Amino acid sequence: MANIVEAVGLVKEFRDFWNRPKAKAVNDIDFEVREGEVLGLLGPNGSGKSTTVKMLLGLLYPTAGRLSVFGTSPRSVDAKRMIGYLPEETYLYKYLTAYETLDFFGSLFGLSAKERKTRAEQLLDMVGLSHAANRRVGEFSKGMARRIGLAQAMINDPAFLILDEPTSGLDPIGCREVKDLILLLKRRGKTVLVTSHLLSDVEDVCDRVIILYGGKIRAEGAMEELLAVKNSSRITIPELPAEALAKIEAVIRENTDAKFTVDHPHRTLEDFFLNVVDDAKKESISTSGATSGGEIASYLVDGDISETGKAKLDRLAGVEPEPEETPAEEVPVLSEQNQKKLSELEDKVEVPETPVDDAARQQLDDANKKLSDLFSDGSKK
Ligand SMILES: Nc1ncnc2c1ncn2[C@@H]1O[C@H](COP(=O)(O)OP(=O)(O)OP(=O)(O)O)[C@@H](O)[C@H]1O
Ligand SMILES: [Mg+2]
Repeated sequence: MANIVEAVGLVKEFRDFWNRPKAKAVNDIDFEVREGEVLGLLGPNGSGKSTTVKMLLGLLYPTAGRLSVFGTSPRSVDAKRMIGYLPEETYLYKYLTAYETLDFFGSLFGLSAKERKTRAEQLLDMVGLSHAANRRVGEFSKGMARRIGLAQAMINDPAFLILDEPTSGLDPIGCREVKDLILLLKRRGKTVLVTSHLLSDVEDVCDRVIILYGGKIRAEGAMEELLAVKNSSRITIPELPAEALAKIEAVIRENTDAKFTVDHPHRTLEDFFLNVVDDAKKESISTSGATSGGEIASYLVDGDISETGKAKLDRLAGVEPEPEETPAEEVPVLSEQNQKKLSELEDKVEVPETPVDDAARQQLDDANKKLSDLFSDGSKK
């Protein structure tokens, strides 16, 4: 398997105004990122994760050492074309809408207008922001900004994704979606480098991890090897009658003097939380919060999404399985002027909290009527 990244003796020293050494953020590290793997870069605050990532992107020059990405310099345009990057802080142009943001980044990669439109729409749906497509990203909550940042990182369908704390600011559903997305990208043969402080997230998706401390690599290896406790065994069996359990315990005592425990396995808090939300969705309890993401953008899927991954995402997003051969709904095209009016109206409409009172219902009906008038007007053009 080829290496996407090769770093040997990599050093980054920050200097002050008088060129005096200020901080050795990365201190002589060797590592590689292998094609098709999900690699986790872990470490406490200030251990050099983001500095390493910025050197991979060609945003910072290494002070010493050798670094290649796709066999070439991290500064090469060819390498950048194949990389998607989610920065630690989501940097967005606050006056652009979510849709315009994706369109803009698509244009930087030279995508055609048609391709930009398709990808932007699919990505917005995938990250659960279709309803906010025409809102300025400057007003977004932290989680919404993270989601649009993720969509932006995937607009060029990159072979190598670098995600700096992708789950920070996301609710547990968003976290699970991001993790499922990372696994899906891996199944598509993509390579992913992810940094995170949420160790359980890293454990769920990474094949390998590197742990940094003070700019040096303190531990690295495959997840299986690092985490398996090799000197003990675990057997998980269905609930047994007390007598059967006593017999098993007697057999264990015959074979070892060491202490042992018999207990019930725990599910994770994440699984428990997602089940609670799932049940609430089934009971149609309304929420005014963020919606779950939709389908994985089909240009990212390319037809090889496994049923299990898709079904899981659909379940989380509360999407009913699609009936076969559903005729496509015709979407009316709005003129630019009407599109503007529509956004203004959408901004003005206040969605009342349930239970809906009569005045609010009337307000909503009026607004809906105005919207449908606009649509029928636009579709005539
Ligand atoms: N532009 C800079 N100028 C000076 N020092 C810097 C600069 N960027 C980072 N550093 C220093 O380099 C060290 C590593 O920082 P880095 O941002 O890489 O850490 P990190 O592992 O990403 O931390 P976090 O988990 O907080 O994001 C820190 O001591 C930091 O203060
Ligand atoms: Mg960082």
